[in-house]
Amino acid sequence: MERFNLDGEKIKPLTICLIGGGGFIGSHLCEKLLYKTQHTAIIIDISSTKIKHLLRPYSCWFGRVQFHEINVKRDTLHRHLEPLIAASDLVINLAAICTPANYNTRPLDTIKSNSVDAIPVVEFCIKYKKRLIHFSSCEVYGKTIGSFLPKDHALQNVSELYLLKEYDSPCIFGSIDKQRWTYACAKQMIERLIYAQSALHSLEFTIVRPFNWIGPRMDFIRGIDGPREAVPRVLACFTGNLLRGKPLKLVDGGQSQRSFCYIKEAIEAVLLIIENPARANGKIFNVGNPENDVTIKQLAELMIEVYADVTKQPASKFTTIDVSSNNFYGPGYDDSDKRIPDMTIINRELGWKPAMRLRTILKLCLDHAINEYKSAIKNECDSLLEFHTGYEYFSGSE
Ligand code: NAD
Ligand code: UGA
Repeated sequence: MERFNLDGEKIKPLTICLIGGGGFIGSHLCEKLLYKTQHTAIIIDISSTKIKHLLRPYSCWFGRVQFHEINVKRDTLHRHLEPLIAASDLVINLAAICTPANYNTRPLDTIKSNSVDAIPVVEFCIKYKKRLIHFSSCEVYGKTIGSFLPKDHALQNVSELYLLKEYDSPCIFGSIDKQRWTYACAKQMIERLIYAQSALHSLEFTIVRPFNWIGPRMDFIRGIDGPREAVPRVLACFTGNLLRGKPLKLVDGGQSQRSFCYIKEAIEAVLLIIENPARANGKIFNVGNPENDVTIKQLAELMIEVYADVTKQPASKFTTIDVSSNNFYGPGYDDSDKRIPDMTIINRELGWKPAMRLRTILKLCLDHAINEYKSAIKNECDSLLEFHTGYEYFSGSE
């Protein structure tokens, strides 16, 4: 079926090179491209676990998808990457280390992965005149001006002090011993490089700044499909704790705020960016949902409510516990206080406005997690049963 973009032009099938396309965002984007469009996906990643359902032979889209296991590093030979970029119409770079626990424990890898390793991608895009959509982060804004004011200061409610705007807000990072900002700094460096290259070499680019997109396949559940000792992002941490009936840990009381956006709505925004280059080129877009702004404590409480509802258990069975960031992440942790995206630009240019509220999003995430992990958690609990009296995981839902 023919499809048309926002300017009424027929959309031609593109060959899209997705670097880091095997991760959380990449897997949803590839699903969308393969199920709903005629575009071809060349996926590059070090892992294909999250996209294995897309790589099945004999599926109707199979001729439109390739997977290449390549570790994209600045300091390795690029004989594999270069021809794949040369053969594409568009390059989307998603590859990164982007879980906060790694910023402290793997600072050098974090810097390399988010800046240095992306440089050859930019260079090949210039060399072969390919359009680039680069995934940056809302973390580039850093802390808000409001975070430096006393909590009860009258200016706290002035939206100009916390609403994050692509071309107006300052980028305020913490000190060098707080390693969250190495990630933010690395992301900002590559944004600036892309911007400079566009001015010097007419590189066609769009920068995407996602604000806490969440959904199925985000990160991993510790000890099941990821290492027990690693710490994923908050959705997966809380989900794992709920599945195991353990308290949800609130880092420093869970007072930081985030605006959560459902992955499938965010992917609609990415598709609009892909298919409307005349509107998206040369721009930076915040992509998030300012309506779903909550503290992490409120997120935990809502997840408990929704999980109790879905599994038909009393909410009183689930609790939260305060933990210090020093104990949870180790020394040197710092946090973004509040992240509310201004949506004017993407709304004006691409007409995108997310609608899904947090409760609905969490129900979708938790339904998926229960289906996905139920038997693994049950096996884990069964093997502990002799030590664990009163065991009744999922009793209400079975
Ligand atoms: P993810 O960790 O699920 O995906 C990243 C993918 O990149 C992974 O599959 C990983 O294997 C791959 N990768 C990492 N290093 C690689 C290398 N050297 N060579 C090849 N592949 C490599 O994370 P995600 O949430 O899908 O994020 C994708 C991008 O979006 C990242 O750049 C991240 O910084 C950015 N981002 C995401 C969010 C969000 O809401 N999820 C928010 C802000 C920014
Ligand atoms: C992360 C990463 O920096 C980036 O991948 C990305 O830019 C961003 O998410 C995003 O998704 O937009 P952050 O929001 O801090 O940043 O990531 P989370 O690990 O999901 O943490 C959110 C908040 O929850 C933090 O305040 C953290 O301290 C807290 N948290 C996390 C808890 O209170 N308990 C937990 O068990 C885990």
